[in-house]
Amino acid sequence: MMTSTIFGSPIDTGAITADIPVTKDVAHFRVSVTQKHTIFTYPLDTDDLVYGLGETMGRVNKRGGRYTSFNTDTAEHEDSNPSLYASHNFLIVWGKETFGVFFDTPAKVEFQIDYQGSGEVRVECHTRDLRLYQIDGDGPYAITRTLLKAIGPCYLPPLWAFGYGQSRFGYAKDQDFRDVAKGHADNDLPLDYICMDIDYMDGFKDFSVDEKDIPDLKGLAEEMKEQGIHLVPIVDAGIKVEPGDPVYESGVKGGHFCRNVEGGLFQAGVWPGMTHFPDFFQEKTRKWFGSQYKFYTDRGIEGFWNDMNEPAIFYSEYTRPKLGKWTFVLDILFGKYRKEKKARDMIRDYKSFFHNITGKRVRHYDVHNLFGALMTRSTSEGLRDLLPHRYLLFSRSSYIGAGRYGGVWTGDNTSKWEHLMLNVRHMPSLNMCGFLYAGADTGGFMGDCDRELLLRWLAFSAFTPLMRNHTGNFTKNQEAYRFEGQDDFRSILSLRYRLLPYIYSEYMKAALTGDMYMKPLSFCYDDPAVRPIEDQLLVGDSIMIAPVVKQGATSRRVYLPEAMTQVRYDGQDFHCATVDKGWHHQQTQLHEVVLYIRKGKLLPIGKPITNTADYDVEDLQLLGDGDVYDLYTDDGLTRQCTMDNVRQLSR
Ligand code: GLC
Repeated sequence: MMTSTIFGSPIDTGAITADIPVTKDVAHFRVSVTQKHTIFTYPLDTDDLVYGLGETMGRVNKRGGRYTSFNTDTAEHEDSNPSLYASHNFLIVWGKETFGVFFDTPAKVEFQIDYQGSGEVRVECHTRDLRLYQIDGDGPYAITRTLLKAIGPCYLPPLWAFGYGQSRFGYAKDQDFRDVAKGHADNDLPLDYICMDIDYMDGFKDFSVDEKDIPDLKGLAEEMKEQGIHLVPIVDAGIKVEPGDPVYESGVKGGHFCRNVEGGLFQAGVWPGMTHFPDFFQEKTRKWFGSQYKFYTDRGIEGFWNDMNEPAIFYSEYTRPKLGKWTFVLDILFGKYRKEKKARDMIRDYKSFFHNITGKRVRHYDVHNLFGALMTRSTSEGLRDLLPHRYLLFSRSSYIGAGRYGGVWTGDNTSKWEHLMLNVRHMPSLNMCGFLYAGADTGGFMGDCDRELLLRWLAFSAFTPLMRNHTGNFTKNQEAYRFEGQDDFRSILSLRYRLLPYIYSEYMKAALTGDMYMKPLSFCYDDPAVRPIEDQLLVGDSIMIAPVVKQGATSRRVYLPEAMTQVRYDGQDFHCATVDKGWHHQQTQLHEVVLYIRKGKLLPIGKPITNTADYDVEDLQLLGDGDVYDLYTDDGLTRQCTMDNVRQLSR
């Protein structure tokens, strides 16, 4: 049962598409409205668990933390940092009382959840205009499913988007992409796509290509496709201020850019230098921006990642304009520009530009958290018009509801073990908020990744729908083929492709029926022992995983809430054994992956392949003790996806 309560006159964020009955009563919370804020408090019981909040720091159980929904470009993925790139204001309280609540507002929202032992949930919305959704249900899983259904059907990527992707900030020339393709092919390592970071562009301008380095993008895309590889360019939120440039000119002419305090066009410094931000709140601008992707689709490109859409601002016409592009370098070299000052400048910038929302001038700061989500919507709707089939799209910034239009990646993490664990924690939380197509920069973006960390990270990412190795521009090479002992990498990457029939089927079924793809154990097992466990996850309906997330470890403890079939993959074979309910020691060497098939379930396994072009569901092996498995069979591209595409496999 889901109801909603309206405070003030909120804008329609588009997060929820279902018709939800409106009531004046707010259950569970005490509400107080101040001059500018709306504050909700709820007293927690000692044993209550609190889930949700999607992409935030901290644990899956959010108790004890402080989190702020205020989309921020930050490489500090530390518990002390309250904001990442996204705002997912959905919470589930599970205990004495059990309910879900979604604070639907694009304004800043601060959550304190038993913070410093306060014993309460305190949610401070920096607005008096919001829509509150409350959900009752039998437990966290039922509540989540009610939310997912109310959001509406999840984004459906093409099959090739479930393959392995390679990326790096720094690939610039056409030869770089050829080398990456060759590096994988020569070493018999699978690959389905290569991401193009900002260096492919002419002067970091969206919808352009640097013809010195890539004289024939269309030809390159074709050449890659012949090898089964898709090129996936990055697109940033800002449009470079460059009189004479056709995209810039049409943006100015069409009235598509955000305005500044004086009523002119707001200028913010990002990668290309000064840019204007498209006003994604205007329908005509969403259409205009989305239609610009024709530049790429005309060149045979069908996948994109949208970035810098919090929106990120390095400097603006109001803050540090004189330093220009040197701000970045000076900040790093001298550390003079302190954190607090940067935070103050950021707020100042966000208060200095405006949107046109159905004829009303609205300050960006008040609707900040929706900007990235609307960019995703604009791209997605544009691509629907431009392409006859499904496309790959993932974004850095997001808000609940954007999961209908595309996926997300979790931004600039670091090559460290804690961030592998953060990736494990993010996945179920993102799923609770409607983001099924998700993943982290595998191997880490900042810093250097070593062989052991990359192997363990790949072994986890092998289960996340988005499996992309990405790193920054000044880090050590991170492509799998750059490391010693290729057999180990082949083993882990081959597992991903052998699991594709399962991963693809489970994703499609979850997306079409409003279900989760990755879940905490506590969502399915009524066993108090599983509640604190955050380093094991359920993936789809049949399996549980227990990734190795500690440096130097070749074994770990694992808890089985019921007897399961343990499957050990060594790069060649799947070795099965029955393991009893309870705690166990799981040995896992670097080349291995261990997973568990739940009682009464089946896991379909495909033949070893190195590209989704060779995906074949005719000759599958079935592991586990179940009787039937619902395999999703379509051509991996068509938009006509229904549950009619399910074929039952039986033993
Ligand atoms: C941002 C993105 C990162 C990308 C870089 C350059 O930091 O998060 O993934 O590589 O910009 O475009």
